[in-house]
Amino acid sequence: SIGPAADLPIVNGVVSPDGFLKSAVLAGGTLPGPVIAGQKGDTFKINVTNYLTDDSMLTGTTVHWHGLFQHHHNQMDGVAYVTQCPIAPGNSFLYDFNAQNQTGTYWYHSHYGVQYCDGLRGPLIIYDPDDPYRSSYDIDDESTIITLMDWYHVPAPQVQRQVVPDSVLINGVGNYEGGPEIPPAVINVQPNMRYRFRLLNMACKPNYIFAIDNHNLTVIEVDGEYVEPYTVDAIQIYAGQRYSFVLEANQPIDNYWVHADPNTGNNSTAILRYAGAPEGVPKNRTTPNQNPLNETFLRPFVNDSARLLQPEADVKLNLVLGKNESNYNFLINNVQYTSPSVPVLLQILSGAVSPSELEPKGSVYALPKDKVVEISMPPDDAPGRPHPFHLHGHKFAAIRSAGSSQYNYVNPVMRDTVNTGIAGDNVTIRFITNNPGPWMLHCHIDWHLNAGMAVVFAEDFDGISASQPLSNASKALCPYEGPSQDFP
Ligand code: C2O
Ligand code: CU
Repeated sequence: SIGPAADLPIVNGVVSPDGFLKSAVLAGGTLPGPVIAGQKGDTFKINVTNYLTDDSMLTGTTVHWHGLFQHHHNQMDGVAYVTQCPIAPGNSFLYDFNAQNQTGTYWYHSHYGVQYCDGLRGPLIIYDPDDPYRSSYDIDDESTIITLMDWYHVPAPQVQRQVVPDSVLINGVGNYEGGPEIPPAVINVQPNMRYRFRLLNMACKPNYIFAIDNHNLTVIEVDGEYVEPYTVDAIQIYAGQRYSFVLEANQPIDNYWVHADPNTGNNSTAILRYAGAPEGVPKNRTTPNQNPLNETFLRPFVNDSARLLQPEADVKLNLVLGKNESNYNFLINNVQYTSPSVPVLLQILSGAVSPSELEPKGSVYALPKDKVVEISMPPDDAPGRPHPFHLHGHKFAAIRSAGSSQYNYVNPVMRDTVNTGIAGDNVTIRFITNNPGPWMLHCHIDWHLNAGMAVVFAEDFDGISASQPLSNASKALCPYEGPSQDFP
């Protein structure tokens, strides 16, 4: 692992996580990228240098820190054409930010076109040496990270978004149909120890049902927020989401299957191996999912959101997720998001006088400061459901979850990425506008984001220029726009 002050070179390299050789876009030269680890309160100084040359993929880049609020430094959010221009080949950008009191499980990825699908993604963990909850969970070890992702053999800019991934990877290893037999990743445990495992869905597309044979999973963290311990035998995890769970190594010394079954693509497995077990594969596979995680049963560990849960929100917004009949692109309230040629933040800092001037027109919503905002997202006419929606700059209360018709104004879970479900659902979230800046809300299926399933909130428009240093601002068009992308 690296960090919190580190160089992160972005390079092209050939990798074969599933036995197929593919040119990729790699953070630090590996797939997934290195774990970026810090401690509570750390300032992160990640110097990203762009060494990309392979123009079958995008050669500009940015890095976004998924789940970190970037409070008062929106310009470090790493979203191409929202907070910065893509970093041109041969150039560097120093991401310099303090995560304040955020701790837990996050990740980083390119936020330029569909670039993270070609490889640029990795975990970011903020440890808390004085974790106030550690004693209640009684954990012996918290070093295990389990990453899930999807993998495509052609360059992402050529992948049609309907395409099924060639393979899905657990901890960077997988198998594709007709490919060589690649040994699964092994997760080692000592008998009778208690572990905090961190599970991350870093996919461009699939959600997964994750389980470990013969073991319960006691969920204690959701997207960086502690929750009351909640014991399940399977976790359905959507693109962008994270969970920590406690695993007790209390079964006979042996090998056990770890499985991640995606909603699209082939199932993938890893092995949970107890010290002393033979090196080999587990004998049989059980069928869990008798007691799967249900989002409405998640409870915050500390419920300090009285204001957020006041009876009526100050601002209510309905965002209808739909499709464009003529080209199969995606719409939110009938508008397809397209990147502006000047990043939204730079439009504001360089003198846009009102939010209504901001490009892309129809996709930027002004939100007044210090208000309780409630957003409903009915996926009324959107193919490709379910769409996991991620909000930048905030966590939010999941007031109404997919598959439920109940609204919880008492003790909803707080998270940063939520499944918006299927037709008939009306997933509803709330947050307080306490963080000035343009922040994206978008589907985390990267093919859908790229096809327009996004909006930008211009939060506290007047406060944005007041709270930001102007050092990164420039009035010019982005000097580097990269190759144009055609999406079939
Ligand atoms: Cu994980 Cu807008 O991103
Ligand atoms: Cu989507």
